[in-house]
Amino acid sequence: MTQDELKQAVAQAAIQYVVENEIVGVGTGSTANFFIDELAKIKHKIKGAVASSEVTAARLRGHGIEVFDLNDVTSMSVYIDGADEITEQGAVIKGGGAALTREKIVASVAKQFICIADGSKLVNMLGKFPLPVEVIPMARAVVIRKLNAIGGDARLRVKDGVPVLTDNGNIILDVHGLQINNPAELEAEINNIVGVVTVGLFARQGANICLLGTEDGVRILQF
Ligand code: A5P
Repeated sequence: MTQDELKQAVAQAAIQYVVENEIVGVGTGSTANFFIDELAKIKHKIKGAVASSEVTAARLRGHGIEVFDLNDVTSMSVYIDGADEITEQGAVIKGGGAALTREKIVASVAKQFICIADGSKLVNMLGKFPLPVEVIPMARAVVIRKLNAIGGDARLRVKDGVPVLTDNGNIILDVHGLQINNPAELEAEINNIVGVVTVGLFARQGANICLLGTEDGVRILQF
């Protein structure tokens, strides 16, 4: 199976976690896009969605799914999103698509974070994937120094020669070279650096369930 077929399989499997007549939280990225396309098939059964990025909101609306402002939503059963890396303990790195802050906010409102990923995302230790950190632009240099002081190699994310800006107007630093032994501790430490908006570690509130696409079918990990 191709990686896209594995993503498609987990996106389909995630539909069973969607609660009828409710609002569902929707993530960002290629796997989340497959999920949105599956969600469109049952859109008459849900109230609508909260999006974790402008791109996701546009795709949801394109399918005729109503997008709610998170400020108007008090509870949500599930938030469904992809991952860049995930451990057997449910700690996740996210932010490859620069949507980490909104993803973490929407996930924080949901009762359950259902992570959907192809099998290549499962790792023993987080950190091979450079850890994304959303940062206020004026704090770039000081935050780079502080991230490097804790053993990383923080680099400004650039695309087509210009810094990538998040939906919130901030920059992304990708921290290379970290071996993340204690994700929850590192999450708190990096979130405490002044100028950091959010680190893309989801460990203190990680995934509750992971649907992992493998050659042998969809593996369900419960945490
Ligand atoms: C978006 O900012 C990310 O957190 C994505 O959820 C993550 O990068 C996974 O993306 P793919 O599903 O495209 O691999």
